[in-house]
Amino acid sequence: MESTAPAKSPQWLRSEIERLKKEKNALIMAHYYTRDEIQEIADFIGDSLALARQAARTDADVIVMCGVHFMGETAKILCPDKKVLIPDTAAGCSLANSCDPVEFEKFVKEHPGHTVISYVNTSAAVKAHTDIVVTSGNARKIVEKLPADEKIIFGPDHNLGEYINSVTGRQMLLWNGACHVHDRFSLDRIAGMKREHPQAKILVHPECRRPLQLIADKVGSTAALLDFAQHDDAPEYIVVTESGILFEMRRKCPGKTFLAAPAEDAECQCNQCDYMKMNTLEKVYETLRDGEPEIHVDPEVAEKAVRPIKRMLEMSE
Ligand code: 13P
Ligand code: SF4
Repeated sequence: MESTAPAKSPQWLRSEIERLKKEKNALIMAHYYTRDEIQEIADFIGDSLALARQAARTDADVIVMCGVHFMGETAKILCPDKKVLIPDTAAGCSLANSCDPVEFEKFVKEHPGHTVISYVNTSAAVKAHTDIVVTSGNARKIVEKLPADEKIIFGPDHNLGEYINSVTGRQMLLWNGACHVHDRFSLDRIAGMKREHPQAKILVHPECRRPLQLIADKVGSTAALLDFAQHDDAPEYIVVTESGILFEMRRKCPGKTFLAAPAEDAECQCNQCDYMKMNTLEKVYETLRDGEPEIHVDPEVAEKAVRPIKRMLEMSE
């Protein structure tokens, strides 16, 4: 009869992760969309911008990036001498996948004379064809620093691009990409929720469609939405982004109520990013124990991709 190994308890996994972390001088970083138990064990939790900044300044030998692949790649590009691990190599990103590097290069060549701005949710190969990388946390600030008549290509998120065009008055040329989670929130269902909770404020990530941005009390990156909730006086919020952020919102604002916005389809958990949820305690433990899977970036690509990432870090200071 086949023998199956006994399941490791969460408590055992947590204490082994703690031990291995010290032994290997590792830093566990997690995005706000990861499972609650991952955010609980992380040394650092943040939005994409904060994760990139933290990766650039850490003195740990090993980074375990609990997020998605492009976040691990960004950390590796910024810290080529460090070992960057991700718990599951299948943790990709539908938005990054909506921008094929060959097609993107063609698009850039078809529109000469443009400054190319790419959202951090892209592959290293796309970043290599980019002048400045941005995140949702600094896109507006960076675009506003460029001369008003500068011609700009913005990719891959069309909704974020429309938002930045609307707040800056620019007419950036937009790539037509989207995230499968944010692009599926339903205006009707969120309006219905607002009718049931009239005192609730609506917090919207700019990867959501324009009509949702227009009904929002606040549009912002995950960190910006969190900051808004902490400093605002409403008792209740409808949160229109990946529902993992509710863990940190509830932790930071214990007296307030946070409601996860429903997605289009009442039957599915479409307000969750299945890629982010691939990070589990068991996988973090195995990753630390085995020192793999490790992120590798082709050095030639990394050499080109590091410039627009560093430019972003300088411009968003
Ligand atoms: P933030 O930059 O707001 O953390 O968003 C990252 C992301 O993947 C949004 O879907
Ligand atoms: Fe990518 Fe969307 Fe998941 Fe963010 S929520 S990591 S954009 S698939």
